[in-house]
Amino acid sequence: MALGKIVQVRERLFAAEAQGLPVYRLESGDPSFTPPPHVVAALEEAARAGKTHYVPNNGIPSLRGALAEKVRTKNGIPKVAAADIFVTNGAMHALNVLFGALLRPGDEVVVPDPMWAEAVENVRLAGGVPVAIPLSREDGFAYAPDAIEAALTPSTVAIFLNTPHNPTGAVQTEERLAGIVEVARRKDLWIISDEAYEDVVYEPARHVSLASLAPDYGERIVSVFSFSKSHAMAGLRTGYVVARSPVLHDRLPKLLRCTINGVNSITQWAALAAVTGDQSHVGMMREEYRRRRDLLVEALEGIDGVRVFPPQGTFFLWVELEPSVYRRLGVSGADGVSALLAARGVGSVPGDGFGTNGDDAIRLAFSCSTDMVREGGRLMREVLSGKAG
Ligand SMILES: Cc1ncc(COP(=O)(O)O)c(C=O)c1O
Repeated sequence: MALGKIVQVRERLFAAEAQGLPVYRLESGDPSFTPPPHVVAALEEAARAGKTHYVPNNGIPSLRGALAEKVRTKNGIPKVAAADIFVTNGAMHALNVLFGALLRPGDEVVVPDPMWAEAVENVRLAGGVPVAIPLSREDGFAYAPDAIEAALTPSTVAIFLNTPHNPTGAVQTEERLAGIVEVARRKDLWIISDEAYEDVVYEPARHVSLASLAPDYGERIVSVFSFSKSHAMAGLRTGYVVARSPVLHDRLPKLLRCTINGVNSITQWAALAAVTGDQSHVGMMREEYRRRRDLLVEALEGIDGVRVFPPQGTFFLWVELEPSVYRRLGVSGADGVSALLAARGVGSVPGDGFGTNGDDAIRLAFSCSTDMVREGGRLMREVLSGKAG
């Protein structure tokens, strides 16, 4: 799975660095930016004010209130109250407690393939069985309602989706999301909507929160958000679940209590500043990501046997490789391409780290600095076209 793959790539990158090569961190999804000054100030103030004691298990009340307001107004999810917000240790932990709360051993969850592996692993950790829906570049990595419906069995309990999507950067359309709601409604299923990249979307694509489309099905839709990407707060580990279901209101607090007993108090004050304060840094980062995306797409376009999918959101670029590339580079598959790139100092993640549908692909991240993206892209073009020495 991806965890192991990324570790291998990093080891090769560190070895390249030790030989004096410059290293381009295109394997990592950690934003290069730091949080804006008002968020850093809130961290400092909270520490100085001694806000270092235990906090309420589900999140500090002011943050829960501000997040409820945010999801009602910005995401258009109706009827959300502070009591429907559960603050988690990042979206990762949100998925962990959600699947823990919803699944019994053997329960099936429909997931897109490829998919960020940790989401799928969290289904397995809860005893669930992920059922993969293959996505393809030809139709823009659509997560199609009819394909989902065809994969349902009597054991299916939930549909998991992620838009914008890691690793392909696809953004699902409103029409498709509405279709997914209809399938869930007909078959009485939960929907878990991972929207960690809600703010990293490039026009003309538009992020739509699935729960905003189905006010009358709201209790069966659970939305997951994060401060990691929107506000460059990845290391501060703050995310949240929006859940209106009484079942989850009963179970989530137990899981939160017994896993973390509340998210770090200081970072919750920082998150409050992030959600209530000036938002201009969100647009600034998006604009810079768009520039990096264009640089990277341009660097890789037109190489024989290399097909890029210009992402509509996220800071990932999904690059598919034809057999001619392996022949040209003298490797046996995408793993070999990734290893070759790492030996030259360029990070990537082999596509099979994202499921069974990515054997002939690699994922690049353009969340590192713009210079790294520019130089890494240039070097990658040389390597992939077989012109590097
Ligand atoms: C699709 C997706 N969901 C959730 C997460 C988790 O983010 P965090 O735990 O940092 O909030 C990630 C992180 O890379 C992701 O790619």
